[in-house]
Amino acid sequence: MRMSYKLFLALIAVTMVTLLMQYGSHWSWTRGHLYSHQAAGPKAKHTNVAFLKSHKTASSTVQNILFRFAESNGLTVALPKQECGIQFCYPKPFSASFVHPHTLPANFITSHMRFNAAQVRGVMPADARYVTIMREPAAMFESLFSYYKQHCQTFRRVPRGSLDAFLEQPLRYYRPQDKNSNYARNTLTHDLGGDKDRPATDGAYARSFAAEVERVFSLVMITEHFDESLVLLRHLLSWDPEDIVYVKFNMRTPGSKRRLTPSLAGKIRAWNWIDAHLYDHFNASLWRRLSALGSACVEREVRLLHAAQERLLRRCFGGWRPLLRSVGKIRNKDLRPWQPLGQVDILGYDLPANLSRRSLSSTSELCLKLIMPENTYARILMRSQSVRYHQKHQQTLQP
Ligand SMILES: *[C@@H]1O[C@H](CO)[C@@H](O)[C@H](O)[C@H]1NC(C)=O
Ligand SMILES: *[C@@H]1O[C@H](CO)[C@@H](O)[C@H](O)[C@H]1NC(C)=O
Repeated sequence: MRMSYKLFLALIAVTMVTLLMQYGSHWSWTRGHLYSHQAAGPKAKHTNVAFLKSHKTASSTVQNILFRFAESNGLTVALPKQECGIQFCYPKPFSASFVHPHTLPANFITSHMRFNAAQVRGVMPADARYVTIMREPAAMFESLFSYYKQHCQTFRRVPRGSLDAFLEQPLRYYRPQDKNSNYARNTLTHDLGGDKDRPATDGAYARSFAAEVERVFSLVMITEHFDESLVLLRHLLSWDPEDIVYVKFNMRTPGSKRRLTPSLAGKIRAWNWIDAHLYDHFNASLWRRLSALGSACVEREVRLLHAAQERLLRRCFGGWRPLLRSVGKIRNKDLRPWQPLGQVDILGYDLPANLSRRSLSSTSELCLKLIMPENTYARILMRSQSVRYHQKHQQTLQP
């Protein structure tokens, strides 16, 4: 059942009051920057971020962090207009016209898109920081193959949906013009706006593309080193440890995953050769930056993050953890993540058993957001930003 409009307004009112109480005494709002008053002098928090949300890389977890930061601080997230669906008309290359006008001017942009630097610059402030995340290509491709098995024409041609059979002779099944071929080869390169079908003999292309990505993106996070990447994100944006607290999203049940032999992993890297080049390049840069910070500092920061995480979970859910459950078993519909076709079991969160017996509304709004799947959260943000837009423009509300 959809949240009624009245309930929705009530939620906004409650959120505003909560936020004023929580943050009013700590933060001041000046010229598009938030200042943290904990340190000796005020340090500006960066509030403008373009996050290129790549596929199957834990990017939903980063998006959830950014959504919560934006919402808690009254900032705006650019969201797709209705005709685009929940992504920016993906896999078409991003165009500024894909953005819903009620979500402009924006501080954040995070929904799936095929990146196009010039068009993204057109909707983001000039000082926006560009961030993305990459995952080890063999694990990423195994995840894509399992997740989009029924959605991607290429994968549907493969006998018994066998990953091994596909990797034996990928070109027997793959056509660049297939519907959703973007999930079948160099997906990361494609999402970043590159050419996924460059032949593997073209080493210069991969090198120049990596250099281009490096020019635009201030930080490339690495899924396998998630907490360390968040530490770098926090430094880049001058945020507090509390700002990067998260719970993990969109995992599969262990039974839906398969272990990759080195031989299979090698075949995946060969097939996704540009992605493999990008990953190696940016994993190396990540570690250069971490060692520049110093391993003692990084470890301390990761501990601070975990401590902040513990505090928030305790405050939100008492001694209990949100329950990791497969989608079908999550009682609250708004907490169920999107589930692909086929036998892929996606996990989401349900409220801890003790809390779910009470009504959902008795759980604090920000705590609920911590475990809210992206589609529900984006829908809520869209509504609240629309309300704000209309208030600002003194128009009457559309029913
Ligand atoms: C990333 O690079 C570091 C440092 O070279 C290395 O230890 C680590 O294994 C790499 N990560 C992956 C997943 O390959
Ligand atoms: C919460 O649930 C646990 C076990 O399910 C139970 O032992 C505990 O008493 C409950 N606490 C409250 C406050 O309901």
